[in-house]
Amino acid sequence: MDRTVITGGIPLRGEVQISGAKNATLPIFASTILGGGECVITNVPRVVDVLTMGKLLGILGAKVHHEGSRALINADVITSTQAPYDLVKTMRASVLVLGPLLARWGEATVSMPGGCAIGSRPVNLHLAGLAKMGAEVSMEHGYIRAKAKRLTGAQIYCDTPTVTGTENLMMAASLARGTTVIENAAKEPEIVDLANFLVKRGARIAGAGSDVITIEGVRELHESDHDIIPDRIETGTYLVAGAITRGAVTLNRCCPNHLDALLMKLREAGVEMQVEKERIRLNAASRLKGIDIRTLPYPGFPTDMQAQMVALMTIADGMSVITETVFESRFMHVEELRRMGAEIKVEGNRAVVAGPTRLAGAPVMASDLRASAGLVLAGLAAEGTTEILRVYHLDRGYERMEEKLRGLGAMITRHKEGAAPAETR
Ligand code: EPZ
Repeated sequence: MDRTVITGGIPLRGEVQISGAKNATLPIFASTILGGGECVITNVPRVVDVLTMGKLLGILGAKVHHEGSRALINADVITSTQAPYDLVKTMRASVLVLGPLLARWGEATVSMPGGCAIGSRPVNLHLAGLAKMGAEVSMEHGYIRAKAKRLTGAQIYCDTPTVTGTENLMMAASLARGTTVIENAAKEPEIVDLANFLVKRGARIAGAGSDVITIEGVRELHESDHDIIPDRIETGTYLVAGAITRGAVTLNRCCPNHLDALLMKLREAGVEMQVEKERIRLNAASRLKGIDIRTLPYPGFPTDMQAQMVALMTIADGMSVITETVFESRFMHVEELRRMGAEIKVEGNRAVVAGPTRLAGAPVMASDLRASAGLVLAGLAAEGTTEILRVYHLDRGYERMEEKLRGLGAMITRHKEGAAPAETR
């Protein structure tokens, strides 16, 4: 397995371009199953999860063609409605094909995604909503089997706002007979981006981005093109990279108004930023102070930025309490940060950080996508060399991360498994 080696202590300076949002691309790719001819999707991030979704569409029989950050997808004709376990187990977001397959073809067999490092990740709300729309849903040998002649519109209440659950139900409702109302819907910008793409293709959707989404089913959709929104979590990760190294970085082609909560918390910690329409300039020369953070569904503080902020708080003055309310076990990065000298105690769903500490480079193990990002950030700040193992987790959601960080002056290199460690620049 590849590993990444970082020589820390260098303030990052310069400009970096933000890529398209992974978590908008995944449902948008899946939505092509709803039919309507070839869709041209641009600003697509070249990350493993997106390639995996493209592979899944190919397995279902769709035509998928990648050209750099453009993807041409035609899922008008498919040859299978089964999403196999050996692919779904590598990416739980494969469950996003369930709603579109059911809506367009009346059947779907999708392997249960199973849990992952950050929690059990149930899909009960996806299934309950589809059942309310008339689907017969059963579990057989680890697979979800769903059937419906034609879905009918329904009033659906989600016990908890679920991002992919809202996306699955919104896609399914687009071709259902009648009107569907999703209450307590998730409000993430990626849901709005999916809704915008569906509406361009003829779907009738109102309220995306609020907690009540109304979808009036139509008979069919038509083709369209779409430009994916910038990745707000990649944006946040590079902001923290600038802050944790006390550097001065400029992020281009980002969408600051998708990050209100994060920007407010970074300012509370003492980070100075100038925000323009599609650009953020950060200057973090001054000392930082510890703050309290509570992750919440959007527009609250994003859980996908929790690990990165825990890393940042290790070098801030004073105590910080970070409370994770979305997932049940999303502190896998803490033990690894402690090995770098961080003083962090986990009590239930809270991580209490005592700063400032001078982080020391060490060999550490990545466990999931955002925990790995937190370890990279700590390595950028630490004295000496940090070696991050199982770094394939990063490739799932960050496009060319080492290259982008080197562009900001970081000393960071990727080593193939078994290769002798090259001299870091
Ligand atoms: C999406 O996951 C994102 N993934 C996650 O990003 C993100 O962390 C998460 O939303 C929360 O913002 C994609 O968009 C592909 P949820 P999702 O359903 O949809 C519970 C990353 O790093 N729940 O909103 O799987 C669930 O257990 C990834 O890019 C149910 O109980 O998350 C959790 O506690 C990691 N039943 C809460 O809701 C359900 O049927 C929120 O989960 C569904 C969810």
